[in-house]
Amino acid sequence: MKALILYSSRDGQTRSIASYIASKVQDTLRCDVIDLLQAQNVDLSQYQQVMLGASIRYGHFNPALDKFVKRHAEQLNRMPSAFFAVNLTARKPEKRSPQTNVYTRKFLLASPWQPKQCAVFAGALRYPRYRWFDRIMIQFIMRMTGGETDTSKEVEYTDWQQVERFAQEFSQLQYEK
Ligand SMILES: Cc1cc2nc3c(=O)[nH]c(=O)nc-3n(C[C@H](O)[C@H](O)[C@H](O)COP(=O)(O)O)c2cc1C
Repeated sequence: MKALILYSSRDGQTRSIASYIASKVQDTLRCDVIDLLQAQNVDLSQYQQVMLGASIRYGHFNPALDKFVKRHAEQLNRMPSAFFAVNLTARKPEKRSPQTNVYTRKFLLASPWQPKQCAVFAGALRYPRYRWFDRIMIQFIMRMTGGETDTSKEVEYTDWQQVERFAQEFSQLQYEK
């Protein structure tokens, strides 16, 4: 069985999550893990199931996500498919479900593709790696929302056990009616 995992990642966390999922399902699924920016013309008919994962930056997913979904919606809806979103709002557990995470809820409401499985993962906060403007902006947002404001810190909020459960569900999707 062959699966495709497409990721849209700016600083690498979504890519790490996508690779981790691939490693967790490798007994049942052979996965290609590909950057969404390189995959607009990918042949989905080569795969039995597909997953898309994307991070949020300043309130938005990469426009490549919408573009891909619009272009491939019909085919995506016919396949066992999954979606995951990555953002820092989801560091708060009550904002970590597709219904309670504002970006994910909006995406699903507007999307012509309805994934069979969906999750929201908390991302990473890596102040020292951001350029000056982003560091100041993120620090401001963190101050407003009660998060980490020490710009010397790197904090990974991703719950890897949650990711692992998601991976296991994905490997079972093919068999669901
Ligand atoms: C410049 C910048 C803007 C961000 N904007 C948001 C945001 O609007 N909402 C949010 O919840 N998280 C936001 N984040 C947090 C990212 O979604 C989080 O760091 C995630 O792990 C990034 O994933 P990636 O490394 O795959 O791009 C932002 C991060 C950066 C660096």
